[in-house]
Amino acid sequence: MFKRVPGTKDILQEESFLWQNLERISREIFSLYNYKEIRVPIIEEAGLFDRSLGGSTEIVQKQMFLIGKEKEALALRPEGTASVARAYIENNLDKREGFAKLYYTGPMFRAERPQKGRLRQFHHLGCEAIGSYDSAIDVEIVSLADNLLKAFSIDGYEVEINSLGCRKDKKELTLTLREELKGKIGGLCADCGRRFEGNVLRVLDCKNESCRKIVRTMDIGERHLCAECKGHFARVKAGLDSLKIKYLVNHYLVRGLDYYTRTVFEIKHKGLGSQDALGAGGRYDNLLKELGGPDAGATGFAFGIERLLLVRSRKPEVRSQNLVYVIALGEEAKKEGLKILDNLRKAGVSCDTDYENKSLKGAMRKANDLAAGYVLIIGEDELKKGVVTLKDMKTGEQKEVKTESLIEALEQC
Ligand code: HAM
Repeated sequence: MFKRVPGTKDILQEESFLWQNLERISREIFSLYNYKEIRVPIIEEAGLFDRSLGGSTEIVQKQMFLIGKEKEALALRPEGTASVARAYIENNLDKREGFAKLYYTGPMFRAERPQKGRLRQFHHLGCEAIGSYDSAIDVEIVSLADNLLKAFSIDGYEVEINSLGCRKDKKELTLTLREELKGKIGGLCADCGRRFEGNVLRVLDCKNESCRKIVRTMDIGERHLCAECKGHFARVKAGLDSLKIKYLVNHYLVRGLDYYTRTVFEIKHKGLGSQDALGAGGRYDNLLKELGGPDAGATGFAFGIERLLLVRSRKPEVRSQNLVYVIALGEEAKKEGLKILDNLRKAGVSCDTDYENKSLKGAMRKANDLAAGYVLIIGEDELKKGVVTLKDMKTGEQKEVKTESLIEALEQC
């Protein structure tokens, strides 16, 4: 017996219906904001992530699924932003349309220790707005994330935002932190001990209690921000206020990927437990240039779809009542049933039949399980009279309908 790889999931029919719903709603909302879909490959050169996310980040150090060796290695993508930035550059989208608003959905891969809400293959629903430094697009991105959650009927989440500043400001913050933490390394967890050298900013959002205690005594605030970045952040906050979007400024929010600059945000939900981020994002104004592309400001976010589904209210979904279930009893009736199914499908009616030779009672139960709106029964009697028995599953009413006027009868139902 083969088993699924730990940290992966089979999405069975019932659940896949919930995924389709979520995808349909998100397409509608993305289109309200004029985002267009982009589909990028699942494998990329591993170097793309090394360069974009940063060689010392946890994802690149420990979590990439690699195929092949060293320089030629390919990677199963751990996230979508780097691929979209690569595609923007490679397809000259800067020359074709300049500012581009793109969304995507699909599987991502990280070799993490699986637990609730933390998978090795999970799915992102994300978007990227590439080609603008304007603070208004930061506001749009947060507002879009907020409106997606509302459209998914998710509440009880909190939006946290921060500004890391430009590349220079980040460097400043890094130096200040190293200076202030120098004498306190012994009190940090083992991971933060390593981060002190490679990526000291990450000490700020470490969840370990001893690290938190040390870090919370430090006054981070906005002192690392230059005047321009301060102004940018003030405009983002004012924009969110004007749209009445609730948020919390968290100066300890740094995010785990190196490409971020200026605004970063995370959306948290208590219902998720320790892996509490429903989604996250922010600006990455240097990434396009870093990858050999144009000077283009950019921002975006991604939700983890599995996490969205974990917190989405468990109301029973309204399933399609349009399915017509055909029950044909006996050889001749089955032949007639096949023709009826074919005609119904050609007329755009969704229908199915019993392929397991069930009794009438068993087939009716199946129709019920499938939440069929109507059942068509064809037995010997019906065949002789050239009719079918049409049963409305909601009201329980049934009537005989001439076979040739079946489509009209269904249209009138
Ligand atoms: P991220 O924070 O690494 O950001 O991932 C975004 C979301 O993906 C997380 O908030 C979480 O909901 C989900 N997620 C991450 N790892 C896992 C996992 N192992 N299992 C289940 N869900 C997971 C990014 O990836 C950035 N590319 C977001 C972005 C887009 N920034 C700018 N544009």
